[in-house]
Amino acid sequence: MDLTKIAQLYAQMDQYGDATVTVAGWVRSIRDMKNFGFVMLNDGSCFKDLQVVMNRESLNNYEDVAALTVGSALVITGRLALTPDRPQPFELQAETIVIEGAAQPDYPMQKKRQSREFLRTQQHLRSRTNLFRAVFRVRSVAAFAIHQFFQERGYVYVNTPIITASDAEGAGEMFRVTTIDPANPPLTEDGKVDYSKDFFGKATNLTVSGQLQGENFAMSFGDIYTFGPTFRAEDSNTRRHAAEFWMVEPEMAFCDLEGEMNVSEDMLKFVISRVMERCPDEIDMFNSFVDKGLRERLQHVATSDFARVSYTDAIKILQDAQAAGHVFEYPVEWGVDLQTEHERFLTEEHFKKPTFVTDYPAAIKAFYMRMNDDGKTVAAADCLVPGIGEIIGGSQREERLDVLQKRIEDLGMDAEQYKYYLDLRRYGTCHHAGFGLGFERLVMYLTGMDNIRDVLPHPRTVGNADF
Ligand code: 4AD
Repeated sequence: MDLTKIAQLYAQMDQYGDATVTVAGWVRSIRDMKNFGFVMLNDGSCFKDLQVVMNRESLNNYEDVAALTVGSALVITGRLALTPDRPQPFELQAETIVIEGAAQPDYPMQKKRQSREFLRTQQHLRSRTNLFRAVFRVRSVAAFAIHQFFQERGYVYVNTPIITASDAEGAGEMFRVTTIDPANPPLTEDGKVDYSKDFFGKATNLTVSGQLQGENFAMSFGDIYTFGPTFRAEDSNTRRHAAEFWMVEPEMAFCDLEGEMNVSEDMLKFVISRVMERCPDEIDMFNSFVDKGLRERLQHVATSDFARVSYTDAIKILQDAQAAGHVFEYPVEWGVDLQTEHERFLTEEHFKKPTFVTDYPAAIKAFYMRMNDDGKTVAAADCLVPGIGEIIGGSQREERLDVLQKRIEDLGMDAEQYKYYLDLRRYGTCHHAGFGLGFERLVMYLTGMDNIRDVLPHPRTVGNADF
């Protein structure tokens, strides 16, 4: 069967005028006007539907088609008629319609608008709605744009392992990977589970970040990036936390914190521009039905500089706001981790644009970040965006063996687990930096969707791992 995609018809409609084509897709709506009828068909190739006109006299199964429900799968052959005077630029005049799969009348995706909460219970079907088709196309286009950004700049794409024995963030929020039978585990002499008898001969877990292995490759290729799934057993039931999410992690040798922020900013602007260029219909829809200021905001972000402020100055800004009457639920004092409300104040009310907050207290950041000369802060930079908060976490890495060893020791971490990481500091260490972009948070930012569950095809969050 020689199929033509609906996207192709829209892209080259002049070529198709009067041509006979076969299209295949799913019914979005059907109207029966007695002697003739309309089917709106979507094949997923683009946001727009194709209007199909069917004639009772000439179509032998008119009755059967007119009786179908939304969601049915059809293969339609007909002549494409250009209709420049009507709202839609062309229509397909059906000659044959093959019903490949009728949707049963209890099909849950109805034409009327349904709540996102309800649609979350229909993960296997929700990508058939306009909204979710738009979200997941933007997700795909953004993913490609990320590869393009790094590939065009010569970065090497590295696939880091999903199963690992180390905790890249040192935060202990890992999912264990084991073949041990919980009902009958092998035990050590002191009664603990003996992981040396486990599949890998040690305790292993799903990766929380590909950074540590990414750093290995940065020390041979210079500039690399990873882009893959990461897992966190964080008990955070919020709009922006998932247990399984995708992270983009570039790592650059001979790069400092400022260089790292420049790469983050350029990458975000590049991806935004690409998505606006490649998904105009989707952005129109989000702008009309999800977030009215979206297009203007994205345009502004793509063309203006991000703000940069140190953590210490950010705390002062928040304290000044508090003194002027702004109420924060969580305390604001030097040393605390910034909460979403603080991040949102900085980006939405103070700077009114994406903002890098730099040089956080060492005590609230990961072990691998480079200690600043003040001995209190580390060379970290989180990128915060309006509406979401933190979207990127980055830093210059601690490249000095003695300083890193001491930090691992002070934090009571198991140095043995990090011996490969420490080796990089023994054999040709150099200053280097990198960041992690939470891909779902970027998709939220690009679409205006306000819940991470609605930008993941099959979200895994606390208490949810269906489908
Ligand atoms: O700040 P994080 O924890 O940084 C790292 O993992 C570093 N190893 C990255 C690096 O420097 N290579 O996470 C990075 C980003 C966050 O800014 C956030 O956008 C996202 O990952 N993120 C999550 N996204 C969804 N659900 C979660 N539970 C997330 N935890 C982090």
